[in-house]
Amino acid sequence: MYKLDQTQTPLFDALMEYVDRDTIPFHVPGHKKGDGCDDKFKNFVGKNVLSIDVTVFKLVDSLHHPTGVIKQAQELAADAYGSDKAFFSINGTSGAIQAMILSVVSRGDKIIIPRNVHKSVTAGIILSGACPVYMQPEIDRTIGVALGVTPETVEDTLRKNPDAKAVLIINPTYYGVAADIKKIADIVHSYDIPLIVDEAHGPHLSFNDRLPISALDAGADMCAQSTHKIIGSLTQSSLLHVKGPRIDVNRVQQVMNLIQTTSPSYILMASLDVARMQIATKGKRLLDKAIDLAQYARKGINNIPGLYCFGEEVLSKKGAYGFDPTKLTICCRDMGITGFELDRILSEEYHIQFEMSDLYNALAVGSFGDSKEKMDILLSALTDISHKYSKPNIKKSDVLEIPATPEQVMTPSEAFNSQAVSTALKDSIGKISGEFLLAYPPGIPVLCPGEKVTHDIIDYVEEMKNAGLYVQGTEDPDVEYIKVLENTESQKLDVTA
Ligand SMILES: Cc1ncc(COP(=O)(O)O)c(C=O)c1O
Repeated sequence: MYKLDQTQTPLFDALMEYVDRDTIPFHVPGHKKGDGCDDKFKNFVGKNVLSIDVTVFKLVDSLHHPTGVIKQAQELAADAYGSDKAFFSINGTSGAIQAMILSVVSRGDKIIIPRNVHKSVTAGIILSGACPVYMQPEIDRTIGVALGVTPETVEDTLRKNPDAKAVLIINPTYYGVAADIKKIADIVHSYDIPLIVDEAHGPHLSFNDRLPISALDAGADMCAQSTHKIIGSLTQSSLLHVKGPRIDVNRVQQVMNLIQTTSPSYILMASLDVARMQIATKGKRLLDKAIDLAQYARKGINNIPGLYCFGEEVLSKKGAYGFDPTKLTICCRDMGITGFELDRILSEEYHIQFEMSDLYNALAVGSFGDSKEKMDILLSALTDISHKYSKPNIKKSDVLEIPATPEQVMTPSEAFNSQAVSTALKDSIGKISGEFLLAYPPGIPVLCPGEKVTHDIIDYVEEMKNAGLYVQGTEDPDVEYIKVLENTESQKLDVTA
């Protein structure tokens, strides 16, 4: 169990003390506890939130050099999650992921990552100058989404790249599907390198046995979690955890200081402090509620003609080892409408806003902020939509086989820093891409910056378009043109010089 008293909220308490002292502010921000803030904003948000929008001073501590209440709040977060050290990120999990990557690899180092990573991973790779080695995730062709990578894929990639400096995986995916992370951690550690985990969708995992195993419990060395996405903190606030001897925590602090603002929001940090207290002390009960409600909705959705919301049965598929039932991925393929359409209809006609949608699915994120009443409203809207909009004779094409991963000629960082020109797709064969090409479904890049465009890729793009599927990623929204690199030879020399 916990070593520290998890009912404590030291940072939030210090802010309350500041407010109770009725301190006269001669510090930034200039709105001075809201007195200088325009009424239009102040009347809506209220004075309380403005009164704790403060800056770095002794009572409230410093994020970059914590010695007081922020240090204590981070120690409580580490204790709650079972890490050695926790860092507050006020640049979301995107910032925490960049920090993880910058902490474990440098220019030219190999890092093994799934092909379908979030753009913050690419940003970390560009900033670090590292060389990505890609793994293909498994794909569920019925619902057209990427699942996890298998331990066999990780093992195979490491065998071919024993000089890799780190492995990154996603646990779980946006759709709530987790890989066999424990086995993966053992494989990665047999090479004595760190496993770092994008756990944006997993800040709740360690607080309820009905959820997949968390990265830290599975033995990962570092993970980044969007506390704001799934549990109670405010948007932009995330946690970065470090565990074990493979990571230098001082380096992580340095990197966090490098990439984060020197004016971190105390509102965001206080919300992290309280969200940690909430999940540590009441998490099991709250998550039971969230899971029960989502399961209730899942059952209801699966009784609506034309809709399918997958559950534990996904675990029979390769690349799916754990499942987070709070995620409701509603596949409307059999209704003959796209996930984008379902998302739009729900938003415009029923004022129900989903998290995201793709060609086949619309995704609802469940949490302990839900209620049975809201789930019933959703079920009734979906039933209505099924009656009104079903076009069962119109079926979307199956997911197409993705072409082979092309040759990587330069790192994403070198490609990012090279001059690129817009070229007709058909003329780009053999050239080095300066952009991504992503196939939807299943949302996996077929081309990344620094890779050579192939005949197969261009044929695939045409096939996708003809089948009514999507390719995205280029600046040109119609994907008729792609940016390719100019004078790559001389630029490559410049970069390596
Ligand atoms: C898989 C994944 N990783 C990382 C992120 C970035 O998280 P944040 O929005 O907290 O920066 C996201 C955001 O949607 C995500 O889906």
